[in-house]
Amino acid sequence: MRIDGEHRRSVWLAEDGRTVLTFDQTRLPHALPVIALERLEDAAAAIAEMKIRGAPLIGAIAAYGVALAVRADPSDDALARACGLLAATRPTAVNLRWALERMRALLAPLPPARREERAYAEAAAICEEDVAINRAIGERGLPLIEAVARRKRPGEPVRILTHCNAGWLATVDWGTATAPVYLAHRKGIALHVWVDETRPRNQGAAITAFELGQEGVPHTVIADNAGGHLMRQGLVDLCIVGTDRVARNGDVANKIGTYLKALAAFDNAVPFYVALPSSTIDWRLSDGAGIPIEERSGEELALVTGRTADGRIETVRITPEGSACGNWAFDVTPARLVTALVTERGVCPASEAGLLSLFPEAAAA
Ligand code: MRU
Repeated sequence: MRIDGEHRRSVWLAEDGRTVLTFDQTRLPHALPVIALERLEDAAAAIAEMKIRGAPLIGAIAAYGVALAVRADPSDDALARACGLLAATRPTAVNLRWALERMRALLAPLPPARREERAYAEAAAICEEDVAINRAIGERGLPLIEAVARRKRPGEPVRILTHCNAGWLATVDWGTATAPVYLAHRKGIALHVWVDETRPRNQGAAITAFELGQEGVPHTVIADNAGGHLMRQGLVDLCIVGTDRVARNGDVANKIGTYLKALAAFDNAVPFYVALPSSTIDWRLSDGAGIPIEERSGEELALVTGRTADGRIETVRITPEGSACGNWAFDVTPARLVTALVTERGVCPASEAGLLSLFPEAAAA
């Protein structure tokens, strides 16, 4: 997608073909500096500190982290160490495990001397696939928006609520939840996106709003608590969010607060869609109860960073010194609250049967 009119992806290689370049997303919406990942430890830190974030991008950067590691040391021990270090960075997004298992399964049987080249090729393949998959999610999800648009008066926008950032900066390109939105916008369908601010890290206010603005998609940032009110007022036609892990039964983990939006949507008969690449399905988990929920530092809740009128970036405390802050980063929305899952192979009910109808090869898993 675009920044200042120029097409960009969220991860690419430097001219040496080995240094990994990506954006530091922690400075958005005020800045988006490029950072260079030169060592395994750089990739691990970028994921843990959330300089890069979003389930598919975490997987892509982890794959490149393995490539950086085997470049420095292609031994069996180093490969195992690299996968262990990267796997420990963030617990909820299963794309991390998926990417590491894919890299390890490819590289471990190879002689060490061949590992570097193959690792870079595989990480690049993961990125290319991610772009194609997200584009396909967009095409599969587009008819859901078109169907609402057909019921509208000319020029009246389809009003879509999204939570967190499941946009192109959370993937390699297109995003998951945003891919149908971008395709609809490019087709000339009138849209208006309600962007949940997404406390405590404000991925909606800082990242999704930035992305939509760069693409010219009309949007309004709303307080996290506003969604239910908007739904009751009939101001939301559909919700679409991303996910970090989907269990076999269709339960979905996503950014904290997603569950509350799904409850409000259910109560107001607003369709609630979850968009995902198949790498986000955890076929080993029967239901969402087994999804590990990341708990992050309470400081993320207590401190707010923003730009002052004279252009300085400042961080201020908004809670009393001494008050404890709890910071659960994700929640699980039960499948019964999800209208449908939107995948690269099509739209299906949020259930094991629904998922298997699109991915029958997983029946044996
Ligand atoms: O903590 P984050 O910013 O990595 O959480 C991101 C989300 O919850 C996204 O909605 C999810 O990863 C889907 S990204 C296409």
